[in-house]
Amino acid sequence: MAGPKRKVYIKTFGCQMNVADSEQMALLLADEYVPTDRAEEADLYLINTCAIRRKAEEKVRSLLGSLQTLKQRRPRMLIGVGGCVAQQEGERLLAAAPHLDLVFGPHGVRRLPELVRKAVPGRRVVDIELSRGFPAQPQRHWVSGAFKTLVTIMQGCDNFCTYCVVPYVRGREYSRPSREIVAEVTDFLAAGGKEVTLLGQNVNSYGRGLAEDISFPELLRRIDALPGLARLRFATSHPRDLSKELTAAFGELPSLCEHLHLPVQSGSDRILEAMNRGYTRKEYLEKVAQLRRVCPDISLSTDIIVGFPGETEADFQQTLDLVAEAAFDQAFSFKYSPRPQTRAAALPGRVPGEVQAERLTRLQTLLNELTFNANQRLLGKVAEVLVEGTSKRSPEELCGRLRTNQVVNFSGSRELAGRLVRLQLTEAHPHSLKGTQVDDSSLPWPLAADLQAPQRRVTC
Ligand code: 5AD
Ligand code: SF4
Repeated sequence: MAGPKRKVYIKTFGCQMNVADSEQMALLLADEYVPTDRAEEADLYLINTCAIRRKAEEKVRSLLGSLQTLKQRRPRMLIGVGGCVAQQEGERLLAAAPHLDLVFGPHGVRRLPELVRKAVPGRRVVDIELSRGFPAQPQRHWVSGAFKTLVTIMQGCDNFCTYCVVPYVRGREYSRPSREIVAEVTDFLAAGGKEVTLLGQNVNSYGRGLAEDISFPELLRRIDALPGLARLRFATSHPRDLSKELTAAFGELPSLCEHLHLPVQSGSDRILEAMNRGYTRKEYLEKVAQLRRVCPDISLSTDIIVGFPGETEADFQQTLDLVAEAAFDQAFSFKYSPRPQTRAAALPGRVPGEVQAERLTRLQTLLNELTFNANQRLLGKVAEVLVEGTSKRSPEELCGRLRTNQVVNFSGSRELAGRLVRLQLTEAHPHSLKGTQVDDSSLPWPLAADLQAPQRRVTC
């Protein structure tokens, strides 16, 4: 009889893509390892890393350094670094960390069980091969109560924005066959799941290179038609590839949430060109206006980089103007960070750190104001919330999300986790809202027709 399974601890940094990859690691290792959330009892300690900015990379290095003591106490424990920093650094990580056993890039995930078996103490293993094609995915088994999930629909990126390390660490773009995606979502819904987020670096170009003839809006239509789906989301979209057909989907598909993350990066045409983004500020703003015509309640979020090489005060001012005009509901903003291999890292005109910091502060002040305004506009409304669990700030409260993605806290029974409830929004805070339950009970699913998301039938 096989002995008890060993334990794996997985620490994840970075984006939702990495969260999905970490889930896949656990799944692939499931025959031999059970996940634990106590690092000190792990037989295998995996760090899934992010290389997008230097700060993210530094966090990984500092965690790795601190694991030396744990390894001394548990010499048989294996330590592996996976993901984007692993891909970027390869063997160099082994040289910097003598206690490290395994280095594997994003494509090494599919070979993880075999890599772990090879990495016995004293034999170090590196796998940073970038393979071709979308890999076969392991079968997922939904535990009861799983109500939202991430589904990877493509990997890699062919855009080569000049600041971005992703094409180098995640390789070329490959789409996953639609029947696999539909089958995975169908299984999830059969187990009672409610919300699906489709993931890819650039979902708008989904389908390119596949043998079947399918576009991203067509994939959305097929998934929206699956019985039982309450909420459909996707990330991330490239503004250049946001087609009229995709915009129209926000007016047509009942499950598609009224939220779009559309990273603009800068409001200056000169900088957008230097970033190789492939659109102008005018084109971006036209797309925003079109989205709002099709779906007036849509909430928009974005990413912005300040202090890209050569960015002048006038360029930055253009970013502030665009942000005010687009009236984003949420935004993530960053100081430009030079990344290895990228074209921008070699550009002249580096913006000094203190100027970057000062611009970031000014931008964030404006963004915070916009987020607060957006929350205030929701006051008094009754809205559907998918309950995610207890609130991080106050364990007596529950928290959930609106279809438009804002976080709402409210008092209620813990059994509501994973259910859809109707709340009246009573308080607006800078980054969240408060609400009170309108009904005593949670909503049955499927929702009664009158509570369903309004059928949106506006065309482009
Ligand atoms: N420096 C700063 N921010 C970056 N991003 C990507 N690369 C860099 C970089 N080199 C930001 C972009 C992207 C988000 C995920 O991270 O805004 O949309
Ligand atoms: Fe995700 Fe990009 Fe960070 Fe890799 S580098 S984890 S793809 S954000």
